[in-house]
Amino acid sequence: MTRAASARMAGLRERLGGFAFGGDYNPEQWDRPVWDEDVRLMRQAGVNLVTLGVFAWASLEPEPGRFTFDWLDDAMDLLHRNGISVDLATPTAAPPVWLSQRHPGGLPVMEDGEVFGFGNRLHFDPGSQIYREHAARITTKLARRYSRHPALAMWHIGNEYGPLSYSDTAAIRFRRWLQRRYGDGASGLEALNDAWYTRFWSQRYTSWEQVAPPEIPRSWSNPARRLDFARFSSDVLLECFLAERDIVRSVRDDIPVLTNFMRFYRRADYWRWADEEDAVALDIYPDPGRDDSRVAAALNFDLMRSLRGQPWILMEQAASAVSQWTVNNVKPPGRMRLGSYQAIAHGSDSVMFFQWRASRGGHERFHSAMLPHSGTGARTWREVEALGNELPSIAAVAGSQSRAQVALLFDWDCWWGLETTHGLPRNDFDYPAIVTGHYRPLLEAHHAVDLVCLDSDLSRYKVLVVPNAYLVSDDFVAAAKRFVAGGGTLVCSFFSGVVDPANQVRQPAYPGAFRALIGGYIDEYWPAREGERFAVRFADGSTVDADWWQESIQLESARATAWYAGGLLADRPAVIENQYGAGRVVYIGTRLAEEALRDTLLAAVRSAGVAPVVDEAPSFVEATRRYTADAEFLFLLNHSDSESAVVPLPAAGTELLTGSPVSDAIPLPPLAVAVIRMSTGS
Ligand code: GAL
Repeated sequence: MTRAASARMAGLRERLGGFAFGGDYNPEQWDRPVWDEDVRLMRQAGVNLVTLGVFAWASLEPEPGRFTFDWLDDAMDLLHRNGISVDLATPTAAPPVWLSQRHPGGLPVMEDGEVFGFGNRLHFDPGSQIYREHAARITTKLARRYSRHPALAMWHIGNEYGPLSYSDTAAIRFRRWLQRRYGDGASGLEALNDAWYTRFWSQRYTSWEQVAPPEIPRSWSNPARRLDFARFSSDVLLECFLAERDIVRSVRDDIPVLTNFMRFYRRADYWRWADEEDAVALDIYPDPGRDDSRVAAALNFDLMRSLRGQPWILMEQAASAVSQWTVNNVKPPGRMRLGSYQAIAHGSDSVMFFQWRASRGGHERFHSAMLPHSGTGARTWREVEALGNELPSIAAVAGSQSRAQVALLFDWDCWWGLETTHGLPRNDFDYPAIVTGHYRPLLEAHHAVDLVCLDSDLSRYKVLVVPNAYLVSDDFVAAAKRFVAGGGTLVCSFFSGVVDPANQVRQPAYPGAFRALIGGYIDEYWPAREGERFAVRFADGSTVDADWWQESIQLESARATAWYAGGLLADRPAVIENQYGAGRVVYIGTRLAEEALRDTLLAAVRSAGVAPVVDEAPSFVEATRRYTADAEFLFLLNHSDSESAVVPLPAAGTELLTGSPVSDAIPLPPLAVAVIRMSTGS
């Protein structure tokens, strides 16, 4: 499976001669003469791949069973004649109005019981049989008609899978899903009752028919039921992807098949999805109005690379502004280029946009595009055209891999456990923000980071960072113990290892999962009061700020390295350290101020013997490396729009964007990018 996927992606790279450059192309929105201008300008901008047909279902099947492929034939032929390859989408993210009206049962039912009607997109119930049949029919037609078309380079299944449904169909599928998890019949139901702890509040089920999706929580509801529904909802969407993937693959199996993921998307467990694709693809829209959005972007890029441990596809980004927020700021000059190279620096093998030509109408009429409303005179066009013509200079980078010795846990079970269930000591956890808070210091100190999940192989890392992992599996606990016992360093922050996958408190508490690892136990979790802050004193005498959370830690084998300086927990441990086998665990029992978390994390990384990608560079410069069997590429990106930097180089080499030899150090003006092919491995 993995080997076949690598071969398919290698085939794509070879076909494109390196990176993919292009975007969503919607010729169905334009009259035919416009298309000729489109392909001419695509060639001028170096476009080599376009995604066709993403929301084109109504243009391909205007009435049930009446198919109109002529325009798509024409578009595919035209693109092929112009040397542009096609990432052909199944149009199933936007069912046509006839389908929604004839079969309202195919529409999703929202958590409050209201039907999500026609008029937006993603108006499908992923569990609906009728939706699935129609989706399979149009997919089969497309696969038969275009699989051997010479323009076809890749299949793009659906778009940003996401809708949840609480319909009757969902209830039936949810029950089946639960029966697969817990077993069917009476014993399965018993296992479900145990897992959901239905002894509490008289929630015991005596027949499978009584089991249903959780309704909108009017006050409180069963946390295990909500958690299982989150898992089910990801899986039922995945079934839709798999059904269409298998159709296109059954007709032709040598080209990549994938779908596009979103930034920090809670509804789909991308670790489970990624293995089913030939490559991971991401749509990313960092808010240009927020200076720090590049940190979350980098984390999402590293996550995409880590999901399969392979280069990934940047499937969509904006040339400038988007249209989904209250105020949609532009990307200032140079930012789109920088963001594109940032994705490549973190493992992307493409730079793709939403979309090629800005739409005249529809919700996204003010969304930027490669070719804006003002045409080729526009600043953004000039930047897009320049980038498309510059990318071939780094073609050798495409396909190269990344390496990291630091692993950071990002897992959907942890996320759902913290955020979709209720009744925690505090109920305002923001898991992506927490993980980003642990990632930022590593990024700013130029460390390469892989993201891992509860099922990942940890053996290749030296440091494992576990941010607020409330829910962990037995396998992960065992793997973490092996990792530390074998010499690894674990940095774990508060409220981790608390419950099992059924959301039940591990005994003896707390943290039942990690008590031996951290060398102590927590007698009580102490969420902070509104605005409360507490000083924490480190062994070197320095005092730092903390807030939000405290724990009353009782030491067993661990020793304290920081203590509360006042309050009810005065002189009690705030940060502890434990030797476990050949390794070490640092446990942080409070939310340390940013600098203190940074210093604690970086001290652990340093003492684990992990070297940064570059030794000396300011925090606003990002540094990553990509490797092939015989080459090593150093990426340096200056994210400041006002400050320059000079970065000493670990080895001499050639800066590929300019073709100039470099040695000793490289100057980086504001927003500059350097891609250095190093002469020697270092
Ligand atoms: C993506 C989506 C595109 C477009 C874009 C706008 O989420 O896949 O179709 O809507 O956002 O930013």
